[in-house]
Amino acid sequence: MTTPAQPAASPAPWWRTAAIYQIYVRSFADGNGDGVGDIRGISERLPYLRDLGVDAVWLTPWYVSPMADAGYDVADYRDIDPLFGDLAEAEALLAAAHAQGLRVVVDLVPNHCSDQHPWFREALAGGPGAAARELFWFLPGRGPEGELPPNDWVSYFGGPAWSRITEPDGSPGPWYLHMFAPEQPDLNWEHPRVRAEFEDILRFWLDRGADGFRVDVAHGLAKKPGLPDVGPEPDVTDLPYQDVAGVHQIYRDWRRIVAGYPGERVLVGEVWLPSPAQYARYLRPDELHSAFNFDFLCAPWEPAALRRVIDETFAAHEPVGAPPTWVLSNHDTIRHVTRYGRADTSFDMGDKRLGDPSDERLGRRRARAAALLTLALPGGVYVYQGDELGLPEVRDLPDEVLQDPTFVRSGGADRGRDGCRVPLPWAADAPAFGFSPPDARATPWLPQPAGWGALAVDAQRADPDSTLSLYRSALALRRERLRGLPETLRWVASAPDVLCFDRVGALRCLVNLGEAPAPLPAGAEVLLASGPLTTTADGGRAVPPDTAVWLAPA
Ligand code: GLC
Repeated sequence: MTTPAQPAASPAPWWRTAAIYQIYVRSFADGNGDGVGDIRGISERLPYLRDLGVDAVWLTPWYVSPMADAGYDVADYRDIDPLFGDLAEAEALLAAAHAQGLRVVVDLVPNHCSDQHPWFREALAGGPGAAARELFWFLPGRGPEGELPPNDWVSYFGGPAWSRITEPDGSPGPWYLHMFAPEQPDLNWEHPRVRAEFEDILRFWLDRGADGFRVDVAHGLAKKPGLPDVGPEPDVTDLPYQDVAGVHQIYRDWRRIVAGYPGERVLVGEVWLPSPAQYARYLRPDELHSAFNFDFLCAPWEPAALRRVIDETFAAHEPVGAPPTWVLSNHDTIRHVTRYGRADTSFDMGDKRLGDPSDERLGRRRARAAALLTLALPGGVYVYQGDELGLPEVRDLPDEVLQDPTFVRSGGADRGRDGCRVPLPWAADAPAFGFSPPDARATPWLPQPAGWGALAVDAQRADPDSTLSLYRSALALRRERLRGLPETLRWVASAPDVLCFDRVGALRCLVNLGEAPAPLPAGAEVLLASGPLTTTADGGRAVPPDTAVWLAPA
C-alpha cells in the first residue's frame, strides 16, 4: 500500500478538519438557576468540552431577543439577552474558551430580525412612507381592499409568509414578508443600509474574538425581483425566495472582511438546497468556508445510500476546493438515535413522524456506529450537544410545555423541534440531573425524561463502554491519526452491506450495515469499536450488525 505524497506546504487551516460541538445555549447548562442554560453554565463546562476533544464550539443565538423562535428573532445583534448573561460575560467566555484551546463560532441571523428590532418598530410607528419600511419587504395587498397577501409564498413554519399591519391611525396597512414566524420580518438585502449594518455586526464580533459565524438560512437572503408567485407546481431548484443569484455577492463581501482578521476566522453556512451543485456554489473560494452537509444528515441508515451520499459529497466539494462536513443531528432535526431506530431511517425537514415507533436500543447502536463513520471521514464534523451521550428525541413532551412556534403555527400537526432541545443531563443523582445548580429556583425550561439519569455525563464518564467514552476515544484518535492527512478516502472492496474505507496510512474504518456479522481479517488490530465484536465459527473475530470498527492500517 502506498501513501500519496504529502504536500510540504503549511498544515491545513483548522476549520478544514475541525470537530465542532454545537451548543444549544438554553439547554446546555444553567449557571444561575433559572432553568435556562446560560453563558455562566457554558463557562463552567469548558473543561468538559476540552476533555471531550473537540476543536471548537458553535453557540446558537445569544443575542437580545423576545424569543419568539428561541433566539432566532434578534432584537439587538450587539448585545446578549439577559436570559443568557451579558456582553462582559460573553467576552470573558470567548477569552476563557481560547485559553482552553477551543475556538468559538457564533450564530449570525441575517435573513430576518425580530419584530421588536428598532428598525421594525420604526417601520411600523413611522406610518406610510417611513424610510425604515424599505429595510423590509412591505407591499400592498392584493384584492379590492388589499385584503389578500401580496403573493402566494408560504412560511417555512406554516401559514402565509405575509402579515398585514395596522397603521398608527388604525387603518389597515400593507403586508410584510416573514419566511418564518410573523415575529421574524425578512430584511431587504437590496438595501445598502442592511448590508452595511451586517458588515458592522460581523466586525463587532470579530473584534471581540469570535472565530467565525454560522450563517442562519444562508440560502435565503436574496429574493427574486418583483417577488413573483411560486405558482401551483413550483420548481424546487428555482424558488423566488431561496438561492437567488444575488446572495453570492453578500458572502464575497463578508469573506473579505473575515479574511482581514488574523487567525483564520470562518463563515459556515446553513445552506439547505435540493441539489449539491446549488449548494457547492456557496463554497467557492471567495465565499463561505464551509457548510452543513444536510444530505448526509437526511440519508437513511443503508449502505448504498450512505455510500452514494459520501461520494456525492466529495464530488460536490472537490471542484470548489471546500472541505466536506459530516453532521448527524442539530437543534432543528429529530435526534438520530430516534431516527435510526425507526423502520424508515431517513429524514427531511418536513419530517413530522415523531409518533412513529422507534427502537431506541437499535437506534443508539447505529448512532454509535455512525459516530465512528463520521469521525473517520475526511473534512469537518459537527457534534450536536447530547450526540455524545446518545440522547434520543423526547417525543412525549406535553402540549403545554411546547415552545417551538411550529407547533402553534401548524395547529398542532407538527409537534415541533422541542424534543431535540431538552436540557442535558449532567449528573445522574442531582435535581434536574445537574443541568441547574442544586439550589436552583426553577425547574428546566423543558422537562427531562425520568430515565435520563442513566445517560448523564457523570454516569457515562465512569463507564468505559458508554457513548461518551466512545466519543472521547474517537475524537482523541482522530486528532492523533487523521490531522494533516490528505482529505481523501479510499474505498476498500467489501460485502455490499459493509462500508469499508482507508484513510491511507492512518486507519481503516469498517461499518457493518447488514444483518450478518462481517468477519475481520486475521491479525487485524482493532483500534476502536462501537460495540463488542463476536467470534466466528473458525475462531476469528467479526463485526456484528450495526457496528463500526477502526482498524490499524493493514
Ligand atoms: C434556521 C435555524 C432554526 C430557525 C430558523 C429561522 O433554520 O436553525 O432554528 O428557526 O433558521 O431563523
